[in-house]
Amino acid sequence: MIKILGISGSLRAKSFNSALLAAAVKLQPEDAQIEVASIRDIPLYDGDVEAKGMPAAVDALKARVVATDALLLVTPEYNNSLPGVFKNAIDWLSRPSADVKRVFGNRPVAIIGTSPGSYGTILSQQGWLPVLRTLGTRPWFGGRLQVAHAQQVFDDTGELIDEKVRAHLAEFLRGFSAFAARR
Ligand code: FNR
Repeated sequence: MIKILGISGSLRAKSFNSALLAAAVKLQPEDAQIEVASIRDIPLYDGDVEAKGMPAAVDALKARVVATDALLLVTPEYNNSLPGVFKNAIDWLSRPSADVKRVFGNRPVAIIGTSPGSYGTILSQQGWLPVLRTLGTRPWFGGRLQVAHAQQVFDDTGELIDEKVRAHLAEFLRGFSAFAARR
């Protein structure tokens, strides 16, 4: 069983990206278990705070990343790039730098995302690439999922109602979990 930890980069209660992650949990492949972690309690990065000791929420999220086989980042797009709130969380997880290898090194990572616009987070996903490289992750490039026109893809309750997107997401997850299983 491959353990995948999914993290949504949005704090909004009615977030399309959190809805996409919830759909991924429902569509998880038979040989994978997708769990959800939140960035809500991660403070703004501050080197002075770090010098006094890692915030408990950072240590807790780090422990969950270390305990998983693979990471699924579900990213919104802000101003044609990745959201600061999400990157802030990943930046905290990369501290201290001596820990980067343990937390991220060779860890399989996939990125998906959704937006109400026509391009479905393509530039945000692109924006994550240097981060994933710098952290020494093992990104999966075997599939792409950029869900455009989010307001037509999810209903008011956040349910993924577009059959094509559901099929695409299921296929993406199968490919990613197979990749994560290959050590
Ligand atoms: C956006 N949004 C947006 N969408 C997009 O496709 N490309 C973009 O460059 C931006 N830029 C942008 C900047 C800022 C500051 C905000 C707040 C929003 C719209 C964004 O995709 C939309 O708000 C999504 O609903 C955000 O994701 P969640 O919160 O629904 O997961």
